[in-house]
Amino acid sequence: RNMFWRYNDRELPPFNTHPDVLERLASRKLSQNGWLYASSNAGLSHTHLANRQAFFRHKLVPRQLIDTNERSTRISLFDGKWEVSAPFGIAPVGINKIYHDQGELAVAKAAGELGLVYSLSTAGSFPIEDVGEANEEGRANRFKANENLDVDGEGSEGGNENSKKVPEAPRFFQLYMPHDDKLTLSLLKRAHESGFQACILTTDTSQLGWRHDDVATSNYAFYRGIGGELGFTDPVFQKRMAEAGVDPQKDAVKAASMWIDTIWHGRAWSWEKAVWAREKWQEIAGKDKLFLIKGIQSVNDAKKAADLGFEGVVVSNHAGRQVDGAVGSLDALESIVKAVGERRGFTVMFDSGVRGAADVMKALALGAKFVFIGRLWIWGLAIMGEEGVRHVLRSLLADFDILMNVMGVRSVDEIDASLLESGPRV
Ligand code: FNR
Repeated sequence: RNMFWRYNDRELPPFNTHPDVLERLASRKLSQNGWLYASSNAGLSHTHLANRQAFFRHKLVPRQLIDTNERSTRISLFDGKWEVSAPFGIAPVGINKIYHDQGELAVAKAAGELGLVYSLSTAGSFPIEDVGEANEEGRANRFKANENLDVDGEGSEGGNENSKKVPEAPRFFQLYMPHDDKLTLSLLKRAHESGFQACILTTDTSQLGWRHDDVATSNYAFYRGIGGELGFTDPVFQKRMAEAGVDPQKDAVKAASMWIDTIWHGRAWSWEKAVWAREKWQEIAGKDKLFLIKGIQSVNDAKKAADLGFEGVVVSNHAGRQVDGAVGSLDALESIVKAVGERRGFTVMFDSGVRGAADVMKALALGAKFVFIGRLWIWGLAIMGEEGVRHVLRSLLADFDILMNVMGVRSVDEIDASLLESGPRV
């Protein structure tokens, strides 16, 4: 018995969610392009491996004989701004249509239903507006969708009151900032009007890293006309396409390559420009709307982000897809939390390499306030569309709830360094 797990004696789980199995099942389902785009890492995958290795040197130390009967995976985020079902949520990932026809819509809906944070990438393969709506639909359906779940761990089943406790989680828009201010403003405006409540500026990917397995195919996927929809539906970008004589209906290849060059332009930005984007976002969306920086790996950059007034950072190396040989993200997290973890009004979040609830707990124990998940749900989407994403997310929720129980942890607040025994860096 645990919350979020509904495949007990009534229903068999549709597939095994062990990450190795997920990867194998997804590799069989996906097109060659989809598989190579999702699975490839920068260079020799050393950073991808370093991400995993960083988890192995921290061991969890379970506590015994603690009354965990009333426990909750729920947290409040950003000093009480939002309640969410769990301290983990959906990382922004581009071109979801190459994994499944339902693409971003499926992911946004499943996250909304489960009360988990959703993030949409600028490289999304559906219009911002449609993804906002899908997330809204999921939110609206969250009581009904979870009617059979035992959301507070008390064991009641079937149409119970507990399902009403699934919170309304926020949705975030991830910005790849084009060198075209009008376009940036248009994207931010669309995101705000579609109910996206925070902006995440990704700073580590002005262009895609060198990924051997993917240098030919990711662009190819775009060229097949999948992946530029978020751009093709933008009025400012439409004007640019018209001026260049490009019709995305007739010439998907040209339109897509224009969009790729616009978001992955390979040209530098600056801290000043990031501050500008934050100001603009808050002018458009409101002073209370958060602006976060994703892709931070150095202590100095984290300090800089805090000094400049950003509301938080995502410590991330983009799943090891950008700089091969870079430090494992969890190792970077430790140093960054030491430097800025206590700053008021500043939230340190984390991603890269999380493959299960134990990894989430380790990151939280090291001081992250929230964890983003990428590849796990990508595989679920590839395997079975919306149902696949839902199954992966529910399994992770169940995994986390059970882990809290067997670790002797009642609330996420109780997760701290006292639960860890850490070995030296290798
Ligand atoms: C990503 N990531 C990413 N990040 C971002 O800011 N915008 C994007 O469009 C994408 N696209 C993307 C595609 C694919 C296929 C992957 C695997 C990753 C990075 C993502 O947000 C996150 O940082 C990592 O995926 C986290 O690591 P794990 O959980 O995948 O190990």
